[in-house]
Amino acid sequence: MERTLVLLKPDCVQRRLMGQVLSRFENKGLNVIALKMLQVTPELSKKHYAEHVEKPFYPGLEAFITGAPVVAMILEGLECVRVVRDILGATSGLKAAAGTIRGDFSSSRQMNLVHASDSPESAAREIELYFDSSEICAYEPTLTPWLKAGDE
Ligand code: CMP
Repeated sequence: MERTLVLLKPDCVQRRLMGQVLSRFENKGLNVIALKMLQVTPELSKKHYAEHVEKPFYPGLEAFITGAPVVAMILEGLECVRVVRDILGATSGLKAAAGTIRGDFSSSRQMNLVHASDSPESAAREIELYFDSSEICAYEPTLTPWLKAGDE
């Protein structure tokens, strides 16, 4: 089992797309094991996007991500990091394939609705940034035997 950090970004919240986006993860059979709404501060943004802080687009990215609340969640499932990135689609909504969240709902590179960790290492770092271990509610879904075979 793998875990990943997902953020429903301010454009997702403002556009009332939270339910539709969450449904895609639930429909896939992924397990939501932590969920909360929060306001990202400039300090948290700089930690989260540490690899982008020096890039020309960072000031706009920080203004965007701190501009309205986000919903943070931890998803759990087999190969969850890659599976969730595939469900999101390419970074730019203009390039993302139809059928992906960004391909279906976004026409922007910055306002691409959802963030998801890009590796298990990033996931571990980002989960720690957004959640205290006491906020994680791991559980065994009763549906598991209907979502995958026992040896998968
Ligand atoms: P995300 O997956 O959260 O990771 C970094 C974010 O920076 C990305 O989604 C976009 O919101 C934003 N981003 C990436 N590249 C650019 C760019 N060239 N111009 C503006 N924003 C970008």
